[in-house]
Amino acid sequence: MKELIDKLYETQVLERKELVHLLNNFSADISDYLFEKSRLVAKNNFGNSIYTRGLIEFTNFCKNDCYYCGISKSNKNADRYRLSMEEILSCCETGYELGFRTFVLQGGDDGYYSVDKVVEIIKKIKSAYPDCAITLSIGEHSYESYKKFYEAGADRYLLRHETATDVHYKKLHPAELSLANRKQCLYNLKEIGFQVGTGFMIGSPFQTVENLADDLLFIKEFKPHMIGIGPFIPHKDTRFFNEKQGSLELTLLLIGILRLMHPKVLIPATTALGTIDPKGREKGILAGANVVMPNLSPVNVRNKYSLYDNKICTGEEAAECRFCLQNRMQKIGYELVIDRGDYKE
Ligand code: 5AD
Ligand code: FES
Repeated sequence: MKELIDKLYETQVLERKELVHLLNNFSADISDYLFEKSRLVAKNNFGNSIYTRGLIEFTNFCKNDCYYCGISKSNKNADRYRLSMEEILSCCETGYELGFRTFVLQGGDDGYYSVDKVVEIIKKIKSAYPDCAITLSIGEHSYESYKKFYEAGADRYLLRHETATDVHYKKLHPAELSLANRKQCLYNLKEIGFQVGTGFMIGSPFQTVENLADDLLFIKEFKPHMIGIGPFIPHKDTRFFNEKQGSLELTLLLIGILRLMHPKVLIPATTALGTIDPKGREKGILAGANVVMPNLSPVNVRNKYSLYDNKICTGEEAAECRFCLQNRMQKIGYELVIDRGDYKE
């Protein structure tokens, strides 16, 4: 097993069967051996700097019905909201003062926000904060729409592929959504010039280690600028309410593997990771992640953006999360930095 990790460290690649073997047979010892290397690679590329992104969850309306997600359209218990332009700009203002230089606009796939409306939001934020990067995380759109977002000033786009296996994708999504279209969107975003992030959940229902190996291989081939992964966590109002949540150990192992496969890629220690373990985000950083994405959404809507149960930070103000994370990072020897945190070759 250690030889496989050495090979990954030296060459940044493993064959599919080697990945499957590693995922099936890892132990605490092997994880520690991996994390020493993945942490070193992160340190060599980013020092002890942790990039931050201010997350603005601006709508929880969604026209899609992903089976795992708490804000999918068929959840009649979801209390729906949209932030106004003023509210979004006020989140940015607070965020800017707190040192954020990237704003992530995340939302359900909400038809209310036409291409023109999104373009207007991007332009307003960019003119008020020209030194900040804007990341969009608003799902699948046409090539033309993506291009308009980019031309309006959006810099980055997050769109997790969720699983790179067609049959698995179909078990997690209704028939209207396809892996082929998801991948086409990712390639379109890259061609247009966005810094692109993809990723997947660990422990989603029906997932096998072979699926995970294929996720890693798809990401290797796609070469994203950012990779977001986190454990699947059931939501009470979805058909997967009774499924098991993803494993902390496996999520951390995958962060370590991804860091060795992609030394310079931006990897967040996600909120979902912090939700399944009180020290989850710290453990993510120590496994090779280098980004945190605290929430800037107004406190009165926080608990409504509920993709999964027991999400952390739903009662805290933006400033509380910012300083909480600063303390958490300092305790493990890292610093939050005031920086756009762009991908660098
Ligand atoms: N558990 C964990 N992550 C989830 N996401 C959606 N629902 C859940 C869940 N129940 C993730 C998806 C999506 C991202 C915004 O949140 O991977 O891409
Ligand atoms: Fe939100 Fe700690 S990061 S309370």
